Amino acid sequence: MSANEPEPDSRAQSLEMVHVALGARSYDIIVGSGVLAEAGDHIAPLLGQRHTILVSDHNMAPLYQDRVVESLGRHGVACDSITLPAGEGSKSFSQLEELLERLLAGRAERGTVILALGGGVIGDLAGFAASVLLRGVAVIQLPTSLLAQIDSSVGGKTGINSRHGKNLIGSFHQPRLVLVDTAALDSLAPRQLAAGYAEMVKYGLIDDEDFFAWLEANGADMLAGDAAARRYAIAHCCRAKARIVAEDERENGRRALLNLGHTFAHALEAECGYGAALLHGEAVSIGMVLAFRLSHRLGLCAEADGERVSSHLAALGLPTGAAQLPPAARRTEALLRHMSHDKKMQDGRLRMILARGIGAAFIAEDVGEADIGAVLDAFMAS
Ligand code: GLY
Repeated sequence: MSANEPEPDSRAQSLEMVHVALGARSYDIIVGSGVLAEAGDHIAPLLGQRHTILVSDHNMAPLYQDRVVESLGRHGVACDSITLPAGEGSKSFSQLEELLERLLAGRAERGTVILALGGGVIGDLAGFAASVLLRGVAVIQLPTSLLAQIDSSVGGKTGINSRHGKNLIGSFHQPRLVLVDTAALDSLAPRQLAAGYAEMVKYGLIDDEDFFAWLEANGADMLAGDAAARRYAIAHCCRAKARIVAEDERENGRRALLNLGHTFAHALEAECGYGAALLHGEAVSIGMVLAFRLSHRLGLCAEADGERVSSHLAALGLPTGAAQLPPAARRTEALLRHMSHDKKMQDGRLRMILARGIGAAFIAEDVGEADIGAVLDAFMAS
């Protein structure tokens, strides 16, 4: 061992382990700086067949693929690779077909493990492909965006988009392992990092006011690159998600809390075309502000709670006001139409996540459209 290499014990101490307890589908999440370069140490012990196929995109493959393949090679594990176009457009039937055919051409067998290296798009697409390939093969998630590291890579939701909406075609397919390399966040554009941060704030708002206060004090340093703060915050979010998923894997109840701000966000995204005009996390930021305003209008929480949420999100560079939305996304009628589409999907009842305060979110049934409309009108006029 060279003088610069950490002792095995000290390396273990610089990793955070989170367990997702789902019986036979249980798995670990390993969080630490540099874990992609030691992927083989963590992956090889889980393999039956020593053949893996790494699925990535044209942005992430050049940055991280070699270190994963080399690390697996040191353990005698073969790793082929498939690289797809980056961006939400890859969550499509055509890219799913392309990926499945390439996996089969690459001699995938039931024992082959798929490695999903990238952000939420690659995780969702490769996870879904793994769930249907040969009636299901294992997937290991190697998330590189903040959003994927704290949310989409954990919990087994996989899927693609339909022309009827996002994520409408998919499956629950839990990964065998999630390796979260916090150093991968250094390659993200600040706007992407901030967008992922909205989902981090969400965990504080759902049921953890102390974590929200921690983010108020430390969130900026964490985003700026403080490695210990990143590891702590990401593992904290993964632990929160692991708890919720262990309780309600298939979203029959409590897991819906993870959709705080998302009913508004999905409507805003639909109006903006799911692209660079408004990133998902940016829509979630505004969605959470609106959820608190609606909660206040319904007499559930103090106005000051919403103001505290809004000022923290704004301080960390996230949009919180109508002026930051493209004009197309400021029309209450159109937004309500998208939201009532959600309503149909919930047996005719509009179910939303509201809050009795910071850290006190709950699932509200039968939220009135008139109240939502009034909140949207006031927000768009402000
Ligand atoms: N991203 C929400 C969930 O996994 O349930």
